[in-house]
Amino acid sequence: MVQLSDSTDPVLSTESRESGHRWADLLARQVEAFTPHEISYLDDCPTWSGATTVLDVGCGDGSFMRTLGRAYPDKRFTGIDVSADLLAFARDADPEGAYRHADFSGFDSAHRFDVILLRFVVQHLTDFGAVLASCERLLAPGGAVLIIESDLGASTTTVALPTVLGALTDFEARREQDQRLKIAVKDPRALLRNHPQWDVTFSDQINVPLAGPVASDLCEKWLDVIRESDLVRWSADDALAELADLRAGGAINAVLRATCIHRTGDAPSRGAN
Ligand SMILES: C[S@@+](CC[C@H](N)C(=O)[O-])C[C@H]1O[C@@H](n2cnc3c(N)ncnc32)[C@H](O)[C@@H]1O
Repeated sequence: MVQLSDSTDPVLSTESRESGHRWADLLARQVEAFTPHEISYLDDCPTWSGATTVLDVGCGDGSFMRTLGRAYPDKRFTGIDVSADLLAFARDADPEGAYRHADFSGFDSAHRFDVILLRFVVQHLTDFGAVLASCERLLAPGGAVLIIESDLGASTTTVALPTVLGALTDFEARREQDQRLKIAVKDPRALLRNHPQWDVTFSDQINVPLAGPVASDLCEKWLDVIRESDLVRWSADDALAELADLRAGGAINAVLRATCIHRTGDAPSRGAN
């Protein structure tokens, strides 16, 4: 089986109970802060509106899927994840939810899906061809793959955060050297250059305005996760001072990028945004 993600990945390592807690906390906070804006975006997206069945790949603790489930009760959601620990959080919160413990590369299902969602997941993956092969196997006719990632370079702040943003940017750069796919998603046409059977449906920005305390908490949680990876070093004192400024009255406009792709010749309705 093609290995989509490296189990020794120091960032992904959702394998231990402790890192599972750290990730679940971060994921739940991100959903609370980001997802109302993602839902506003999806409300205007015909590709999403027309979908009945949704596969959430790398659903983690299930916060995102549950929030979407409440906003779109007519859709049927299935979540899969490689982390048994994160799925345990998902099942505790929603015992009736359809969660499967699987690596996307080996996952199969009796049903095909109208939308395959990969939210904050490709940053962990290395083999885009294998991602597309799984999508090909699982996508219903006329279906689409929706990739959501953060776009740090397009995000803006009202207070200077050189240490905090430097750590996050250096971390992204290290992950790019690691052949992770996150950076490549910023240029979706380049990403699909070697995959002529796929085409870009749309690629849009989603703006997420974050007030100081929420922004500062999220940055702090991300620095915690990055610190564990040991890939990047920064001054803890400088970071604390910047986060205090942010908390005291700053703001961040975090930018997410939503990229939709479909099989060539099988185009879904185009997103309106
Ligand atoms: C940053 S978390 C994002 C979780 C969720 N999508 C969200 O947006 O809150 C990435 C998730 O992808 C999962 N993951 C990584 N590689 C995977 C793979 N090959 N198959 C399934 N899940 C995977 C991880 O276990 C983790 O839960």
